[in-house]
Formats: sequence, C-alpha cells, structure tokens
Amino acid sequence: MSIIEISAKLDKHLRKSIATLPASIPIHLYSSSRRWFLKNYFSDLPKISYSLPESLQQKFFGLTFQSPLFNAAGIFKESFGYEVVRRQGAGAFLIGTATPQPRKGNLKDDFYLPFLPLPRSKSALNWLGLPNAGFNEIAKRIQYIEKKPNCPIGISIAANPDDTGDTALSNLLAGFNIFAKTQVDFIELNESCPNVVHEHNKSANSNLDPLLIKRLHYVSEQFLIKRQKCLPVLVKFSVDILPEQIYELIPLLVNLHFNGINIGNTSTNYQYYKGFLNPKEIPNFEFFINKFGGGFSGKPLKETSLEKVAIANQTLKNLNPKDEFIIIRTGGIESQEDILKSKSAGAALNQWFTGYFENFASSGHRVYKDFF
Ligand SMILES: Cc1cc2nc3c(=O)[nH]c(=O)nc-3n(C[C@H](O)[C@H](O)[C@H](O)COP(=O)(O)O)c2cc1C
Repeated sequence: MSIIEISAKLDKHLRKSIATLPASIPIHLYSSSRRWFLKNYFSDLPKISYSLPESLQQKFFGLTFQSPLFNAAGIFKESFGYEVVRRQGAGAFLIGTATPQPRKGNLKDDFYLPFLPLPRSKSALNWLGLPNAGFNEIAKRIQYIEKKPNCPIGISIAANPDDTGDTALSNLLAGFNIFAKTQVDFIELNESCPNVVHEHNKSANSNLDPLLIKRLHYVSEQFLIKRQKCLPVLVKFSVDILPEQIYELIPLLVNLHFNGINIGNTSTNYQYYKGFLNPKEIPNFEFFINKFGGGFSGKPLKETSLEKVAIANQTLKNLNPKDEFIIIRTGGIESQEDILKSKSAGAALNQWFTGYFENFASSGHRVYKDFF
C-alpha cells in the first residue's frame, strides 16, 4: 500500500471524530490536508493497470470510455493525475474547472479554500471559488499528458466570475478555441458553480437566466457551429435545477448544437439537505453555511440527481434529436446500484467526487475494480 492509500485509510478512521470538533478545527485541518493529499495523490501511480470487463466500455461521439464512471470536475483542477485514474479504471479524466485567468480561490478571515467533510452523513461542504492556473497554463500542461486508449480527456471551463458583459463572453470563447487546439476530447461548460458570484437577472417569460441564454447562444454561434473536428461540448448545471428549467433547457441545448447535459453540481438548498444530516454534524454544517455559503455534495444528492436526470431524459425522448446528445449524472454516486439506476433513468455516463474519496479510503487504487 502507498503512503497515500494508507493516509486515506487512517483518515477514514479518524474523520468522524475530527469532523464533530468545533467547526474551525476540521475546516482548517481538512482545507489544508486536502491540498497536501491531492498534491501527492497525483503522482501516486498504481503499480498496475486494473483491467475492467469489456462490457463496461461505453462509446459516445466516437470516443471509448473504459467504464461508465469517472471523476467529477474539481479534483484535477491543475490537470495532473491522468495516469493515476486511467490505471484505476476511470472512464475518462476530467480536468478543471479552468477559468480564463489564474485564480487563487476563496479566502475569508484565515480560512483558505474552506472545505468541511460531514462523514457521518457521507457528504461535504466546500467554498473553493474555482482556484486554477488559467486557460493558457492548463492547455500547455494538457499537451504533456500521455494519452492512452479508452480514457478520453475532458476539460471543464467557466467564464471568469469577475468578468461581465462582452468581456466575459469573449474570454470564455477564447477558452473553447484554446482547448480545441489541445488533445482534449470533450469540453464541459460549468454553468453551475455556487461559490462564485454570477451576474443574474430575472426574465418575465422564461424560467432561465437571460444571461445564461445569451451565453449559450454566443458559444453556439461563435464556436459550436464552426467546429472543424468532433469536439463534444456538454453543459453542467446544479442538481438544484428546476424541472421547468430542464423542460426549457433541453430543446435549447439541442437546437444550439450542444452535445449533452450534466446534472449536476453541488447544491445550495441547505434547508432541504439539512434533513438528511446526522444530527451530530448539523452544528458544523450551520457554521459553514452561515460563514461561507458554499456547495453541498455527497450521498444526500443522489435521489435529486436521479430524478432530474429522468426528467431530462423524458424531455429529450419527446424531442427525438437527430444528433447525439447525452445525459451525465453527477451527485451522490457511491455504489454500483447507483450506476444501474442512472442507466434506467437515461444517464449515459456518471461522475463522482465525494463518493470517490469514500471508496478510495476503503479500496485504494482498486477503487474502480472493487466498485464494479
Ligand atoms: C471540493 C470540491 C470542489 C469542486 N470543484 C468543482 C469544480 O471546479 N467544477 C465543477 O464543475 N464542480 C466542482 N465540484 C462539484 C463536483 O464536481 C460534483 O458536481 C458535486 O460534488 C456533486 O457530486 P458528488 O455528490 O459525487 O460529490 C466540486 C466539489 C467539491 C466537493
């Protein structure tokens, strides 16, 4: 076992006790130890490539994914770690979220990139604010990855939260063009980060933010319809997305030539998810949301992500699009049963974040092998 596998196992035993200490202790401890862990994890190569049954392979857009499950955005923000997850058996390697300029991420008082695990509830809160090295640097690093068959590379990108109006649009567009020149196989447009301030307006005749509609049209006209090669672009929304928004979004995305939707990102529906928490973890949960806000992730999201995927799939079926359009499910995935349910609900692929680390703590690098 590697040091990283041992430290994950050790942490699994201690985490429940640490997480219920006064909030500032676990937040400080896990915000910094997460960074240490990830830095070392990226270079902790499994000694072998774990082979998964061929029946797990998924083919979309001419790409082969060695399994229907891979990391959600936010783990490989810095683009390192491809070979680690490829050997583990991940269906793909998703980098980012990257933004036009480098970002240090959120700092409040002396809390830098705050993160709080809620292990008894199999969930977590984070308020990172998209720290990353920026489009240009990440694109350079991507070119150094030794890509292998059946593990495509994706990049999650977002507009710079500090940009507004036309600057936000043109900087975002630059990202599409920059990554189109790399060995990236698909792009995920992150329209869902709860930890940065978005420009927001209400519209009288639509359930969608007019600025979102404008952005989607802009990306379509300036990039999607001009694509010279097959480079699928999917859009990620929060699991908080409403059914009436899904009914409007799916036809919009299809008509604009997007290739899929990911549901979804973390939730800010704190009052609802509070009901799913272990009572011992509620005080620290409240401390975190009152101080930072942040995104809620993990097991309690699983019914919501499943339900919203089913709604998206039904909407898509009624539309019967002529081009390939897929649905990805993210949120609360932790067991093989979840993947089976995803398939029945219409999800082509799945991503995991919180559940991945839970499973890594038990299985180490055998994480996908044991999962399937
Ligand atoms: C610490 C942390 C950082 C995250 N960063 C990103 C990010 O940069 N971009 C993104 O689209 N989602 C990000 N997410 C959201 C995850 O990709 C995922 O959508 C969410 O955690 C729900 O999945 P889960 O229940 O499996 O954790 C982050 C989540 C966590 C916990």
